Amino acid sequence: MRSACLSLLLATACWALPFRQSGFLDFMMEDEPGSGTTDEPAVTDAPGVPNVPYIPNVPDVVVREEGPMCPFRCQCHLRVTQCSDLGLTEIPGEIPSETTLLDLQNNKITEIKENDFKNLKGLHALILVNNKLTIIHPKAFSSLMKLQRLYLSKNLLKEVPANLPKSLQELRIHENAITKIKKSSFQGMTNVIVMEMGSNPLKANSIELGAFADLKRVSYIRIADTNITEIPKGLPSSLSELHLDSNKITKVMADSFKGMKNLAKLGLGYNEISMVENGTLANIPHMRELHLDNNALTAVPPGLPEHKYIQVVYLHANKIAAIGTEDFCPPTFNYKKAMYSGISLFSNPVPYWEVQPITFRCVFDRSAIQLGNYRKK
Ligand SMILES: *[C@@H]1O[C@H](CO)[C@@H](O)[C@H](O)[C@H]1NC(C)=O
Ligand SMILES: *[C@@H]1O[C@H](CO)[C@@H](O)[C@H](O)[C@H]1NC(C)=O
Repeated sequence: MRSACLSLLLATACWALPFRQSGFLDFMMEDEPGSGTTDEPAVTDAPGVPNVPYIPNVPDVVVREEGPMCPFRCQCHLRVTQCSDLGLTEIPGEIPSETTLLDLQNNKITEIKENDFKNLKGLHALILVNNKLTIIHPKAFSSLMKLQRLYLSKNLLKEVPANLPKSLQELRIHENAITKIKKSSFQGMTNVIVMEMGSNPLKANSIELGAFADLKRVSYIRIADTNITEIPKGLPSSLSELHLDSNKITKVMADSFKGMKNLAKLGLGYNEISMVENGTLANIPHMRELHLDNNALTAVPPGLPEHKYIQVVYLHANKIAAIGTEDFCPPTFNYKKAMYSGISLFSNPVPYWEVQPITFRCVFDRSAIQLGNYRKK
């Protein structure tokens, strides 16, 4: 039962009592009930609580809460309310209103109701990872005007929750059951910096055009391990990292990256890409790291020799059958270009002894090139 009963001593009384976290436990039993030494009211003084029978020879049992109010079995300390791994099936009541971080991960919570977070106006971070959430009331977050981090990964959500707080900076909602990302999902979310939404059953046309357009400050988006077939259009120009690995993307079109002058890392490994359109790299002039490994490319993507900053290019495990001496490096050394620090080309059908060493004249060090052998699967 509830914690009062754990002290064994109150056995007869506690079954009948309503659960009271504060005050009720906050006494030390000495000679007789009510003579506790704390300033908290002793149990017999509490209104509505029946007298606790006198129990002689009580061992030294001190049960004390850390704050005035804390949900049963949770720990409340310095504005952090820690309720993880408790087998909870719903959001507990009596969460201290000054809480800034509420950790509810690894429970079995199925639903968030309208008023569950009503009093948590100062909440900065809400962690609900690994629960069984299917329903979030459309007004559940409406009091959370200061929420910056919302972690909803590993749940059973079928859609992005409605009315996310506009203060949100980080949304993690991977490993759910989301099938569609609507334009309205992220409307006005101008403070989002990090968005992680991979491992959802998204497929072709699941992401509405312009769904991310309002994320004017976003710098990191990851949508990996889904069945999307193309790079979402209309991504914000603030983006510096885009991770779209392990999807079903078939080609890379130049206009997907129009105006993306901040993009520095692009992950497109483990897709089905057979073509990178000429002009793509010109649209992402500050790219440093490009992952196109484990795809179906038959040639090195165009535009690498002209690109000034790109340093790492993963092209291993593709179908590249030939590599020309002008594929990576500009023809002359008076062209300003950063040296490559990593190029991977192994597991391609090109016979590596046919690749001219001069091909890699703008690579920092020989060890930066991984050529290797091709093994037929
Ligand atoms: C992608 O599609 C395949 C085949 O239809 C399906 O088995 C798989 O579960 C899908 N993956 C995701 C993440 O939805
Ligand atoms: C790619 O575009 C550039 C500049 O527009 C052009 O010079 C080059 O010939 C094109 N390459 C291919 C393979 O079409």
